[in-house]
Amino acid sequence: MSKDKSNRDILVTNALPYANGPLHLGHILEHIQSDIWVRYQKLIGNYCTYICGEDAHGTSIMLKAEELDISPEELIDRVKKSHLEDLEAFDIDYDNFYTTHSEENKFYSELIFKRLKEQNLVEEKEIEQLYDTEKKLFLSDRYIKGQCPKCGAKDQYGDNCEACSTTYSATELLNPISVITNSQPELKKSTHLFFKLSNLKKEIKEWLDNAKISKQARNKLLEWVDGEIKDWDISRDKPYFGFKIPGYTDQYFYVWLDAPIGYLASHKNYLDKKNQSETFEDFWNSDSVKELYHFIGKDIMYFHALFFPVMLLKANFRQPNGVFIHGFLTVDSEKMSKSRGTFILAKTFHKNLDPEYLRYYFAAKLSSGVEDIDLNLNDFCQRVNSDLIGKFVNIGSRTAKFINDNFHNKLSLNPHNEELINEFINRSPVVHQAYEQREYSKAIREIMRLADKANQYIDKMQPWVLIKDKDNNELVQSVCTTSLNLFRLLAIMLIPVLPKLTTRVFEFLSIKTPVWEEIDILLLDHKISKYKPLLTRIDEANIEKIRKQTKES
Ligand code: MSP
Ligand code: ZN
Repeated sequence: MSKDKSNRDILVTNALPYANGPLHLGHILEHIQSDIWVRYQKLIGNYCTYICGEDAHGTSIMLKAEELDISPEELIDRVKKSHLEDLEAFDIDYDNFYTTHSEENKFYSELIFKRLKEQNLVEEKEIEQLYDTEKKLFLSDRYIKGQCPKCGAKDQYGDNCEACSTTYSATELLNPISVITNSQPELKKSTHLFFKLSNLKKEIKEWLDNAKISKQARNKLLEWVDGEIKDWDISRDKPYFGFKIPGYTDQYFYVWLDAPIGYLASHKNYLDKKNQSETFEDFWNSDSVKELYHFIGKDIMYFHALFFPVMLLKANFRQPNGVFIHGFLTVDSEKMSKSRGTFILAKTFHKNLDPEYLRYYFAAKLSSGVEDIDLNLNDFCQRVNSDLIGKFVNIGSRTAKFINDNFHNKLSLNPHNEELINEFINRSPVVHQAYEQREYSKAIREIMRLADKANQYIDKMQPWVLIKDKDNNELVQSVCTTSLNLFRLLAIMLIPVLPKLTTRVFEFLSIKTPVWEEIDILLLDHKISKYKPLLTRIDEANIEKIRKQTKES
């Protein structure tokens, strides 16, 4: 899309998935949520750039590569390929999908660190951690298990107890064991670098006061800011897979320091490749008026809404305008888990079913809130069949054939019910607003309400009865012309959610994919194409295949 000064200029990011495993439907929920928003922004004529990439650093990637006996770089490449395949299948249309293991990211991580240091916001402290003497590795919480210091439950990880929900630090665990070697870890001291967040309460609050962020999330974050803010440990000891910290031996940036900086790196890489007039500085300078939004899950809001904005501020970059936080995906009301057989991989889904079914179902359930979202497979099947085939596509399939067979594919000069068409056009701002506010479920509800109206109109007019009498010819043509105009309007409203299906609709109508502004143009005296089935019903056998393959994987 060309750039127009009067329109908004927006950069949208999705959380960077870890490069240590395949994408599952929880990830896909987020990519679909952000992709719909970006497609909507582009549809209404805003300039919008959409970026993501691999989160490539950290202990788990280092260990996974070791396990596979390949280099971390090789692992990242492999995983990136598989992530891109999945994202493409779900029609997630990134302008750039990069990686945090890049020159650009190294540059900006070092620059930001240097600027924070110059402002005396980095402090060295000696800390004591559990150390695996066999593996010669400091153990992060997820690599330590032991007994809960409060209730005594066995087999608990190093950060909190699943039995009694107490949080603690790993060094408090009783009888700790290294998950990696099953050996008993020892306490060992080392020097770490801390970002002095406790000095930045005011700045954190200022950002929270002005940012677009859900009320529930803001309250939770404020609670934390008003409580005891701890300084943030931003270094890790060797061995580690990441960037070495300049000026320190054997210390690396903690993966969560360079991960969000990966957004800057991916954007920089995109602008350099595109070689266009907009510069990185135009967007990221502290006085930038362009808009920046991050889509993320609720588990990572601390990093995005507390640490990252002040890090940017203090390093003299612009801050995000908002952080859009979603809840977690559950499957058939269960947490996604391998042992429960609810851990559906993106691939398992798109090998068996058209990904647009899921785009629709998620859209029908998503709001701007942080509530969890359930994928109930039976409800999914029923809902998609009833809404998309029974309501939306039906409008076209019930009326197209009359235009095809009786009027040489030609729509009439005048619609039979212009009032109804205008009613649809007049409701489009409701849909528009709902998309903007990420209230997709509201948008879908409105679209399906209108689809019901269109079907009621066809039921009432009964073109299949009218056509039996030659005198009604003109009426049939204008009734079907009305219906197909309603069909076009609903298709425009569904473009952000269903890019492929709506493309087929516009091909059938023999028009270019419209932009939102063209919503009030009527299709009259216009030749359409021959109607071909646009979408088939979900076959329950395929749902069973997904269930089965998920249990087996
Ligand atoms: N690598 C970090 C993000 C760094 S962003 C600078 C990370 N990766 S992740 O792969 O674990 O998660 C990526 C995104 O997927 C996160 O926003 C996370 O909340 C989301 N989800 C992971 N599991 C999810 C569900 N079951 N449901 C919905 N979203 C989920 O965190
Ligand atoms: Zn406990």
